[in-house]
Amino acid sequence: MTLKDKIDLERLPRHIAIIMDGNGRWAKMRGKPRTFGHKSGVKSVRESTEAAAELGVEYLTLYAFSTENWKRPKFEIDALMHLLLQTINKETETLNKNNIRLNAIGNLDNLPSNIHKGLMRIIDDTAGNDRMTLTLALSYSSRWEIVETLKKLALQVKNKQLNVEDLDQEMFASYLDTANMPDPELLIRTSGEYRISNFLLWQIAYAELYFTPKLWPDFRKEDLYEAIVDYQGRERRFGKTSEQLKA
Ligand code: IPE
Ligand code: IPE
Ligand code: MG
Repeated sequence: MTLKDKIDLERLPRHIAIIMDGNGRWAKMRGKPRTFGHKSGVKSVRESTEAAAELGVEYLTLYAFSTENWKRPKFEIDALMHLLLQTINKETETLNKNNIRLNAIGNLDNLPSNIHKGLMRIIDDTAGNDRMTLTLALSYSSRWEIVETLKKLALQVKNKQLNVEDLDQEMFASYLDTANMPDPELLIRTSGEYRISNFLLWQIAYAELYFTPKLWPDFRKEDLYEAIVDYQGRERRFGKTSEQLKA
């Protein structure tokens, strides 16, 4: 029985989020510049996207560039942005062929204008696809997103379009960048780091966390299957007792 066969397709996570980490270390181990690691990570993006779509996962969200990543050397940022543009241009056809919609979350206005334009074009070009939504988190951080949400809501209160008493969790979530997406049930981080690095803090309140020592450029379909099998072996109690769940 292969790993893939062990997956119960009836109990798939609807939304998987991945913190793609370890490109720099992967390259360093090979005596190559960090940017070589980023380039090599594109194959892993393709593999995870394909694997998730083939299984029937509805949403895949990839952390590609954080707000904090703007602090990296300019050379590395430029290389990452170039790679991003190149990849989205190259993959439009594949996304359409596979009926995958591209989406982006984060402070997109901060992206260089050619990247922003390219991104909006491919988001537009794939808007009609409905097999899976692939979301790239770009210039994204969760605290940024939460404060932006708060500003939007505060403005509504100020303009008397919203009563403070009516504000609830559901409404709050509907103003996040991830509005209309279910919360991720499974969050994967590669490269052996055990942290969240400002990713989807609100949305992962009850996600199952999966950490693997694999560096991102080594991540393949099998690794996604392994994470899903692990996820399916867990008991998600949501505060209840095990006995309550079984009753
Ligand atoms: C993840 O790999 C890619 C981005 C954050 C853009 P890193 O570049 O963080 O690689 P490490 O963690 O330094 O090995
Ligand atoms: C998190 O990786 C951000 C992305 C994967 C885009 P980092 O490599 O930037 O995270 P830290 O700084 O080590 O926590
Ligand atoms: Mg890193």
